[in-house]
Amino acid sequence: MSSAALPAPAARQRFRRVLLTWYRAHGRDLPWRMTDDPYHILVSEIMLQQTQVDRVLPKYHEWLGKYPSLSALADAPIDDVTETWRPLGYNIRPRRLHTIAQEAVSRFGGHLPSDEATLLSFKGIGAYTAGAIRSFAFRQRAAILDTNVARVLFRVFIGKGDIKAHAMRKHLWAVSAALVPRKHVFDFNQALMDFGAMVCTARKPACQGCPMAKMCRSYPMDVAGAKRKRTR
Ligand code: ADE
Repeated sequence: MSSAALPAPAARQRFRRVLLTWYRAHGRDLPWRMTDDPYHILVSEIMLQQTQVDRVLPKYHEWLGKYPSLSALADAPIDDVTETWRPLGYNIRPRRLHTIAQEAVSRFGGHLPSDEATLLSFKGIGAYTAGAIRSFAFRQRAAILDTNVARVLFRVFIGKGDIKAHAMRKHLWAVSAALVPRKHVFDFNQALMDFGAMVCTARKPACQGCPMAKMCRSYPMDVAGAKRKRTR
């Protein structure tokens, strides 16, 4: 699978154009799209890892009001931090954020670094979060891949096989990297997120009227998500 072909240049162009056009008409106005502060991006992405957008929104504002910077978060008592987080679920994420903040203070003067290797050296920053911080905060041409993005790319460019297989995951990272445009990286990656959340959803994807229909290897899918015979 890792040797499978990447989308050809013309297909990449088409995908980018269609996705960005769709995003400009239908993308959501979300507060973490109006900032390039790496800390704000980090908070939003860690919150969004396991929580729906509508539940994240109020907590995102409350969090940044309470802990306006990495050093403010680093200085806050851990019990206070986990308590603030609590409605988002009892889990490891607030501790991770707190540790990242402390590390950013001790190693980088309260800032997040912008290069991939250094970001990945933080406990709690994985490949997805590193790509999100690089593309959203530092506007670097960095790829992202989470469950939603993987599903979109798998359906459009691959269509069959095991999306969960390690080799497939690796291939999908390569597809995502091949697709990121030189310009508009921020919009492109945010658009992938929205497309996965709003059109190419896990259950009941909105195949009818989908702007990717003509280039999609899985179109049309039935409600249960199984591929049906093409009728065109
Ligand atoms: N889920 C994860 N990251 C997201 C983002 N930046 N916008 C919307 N949903 C997301």
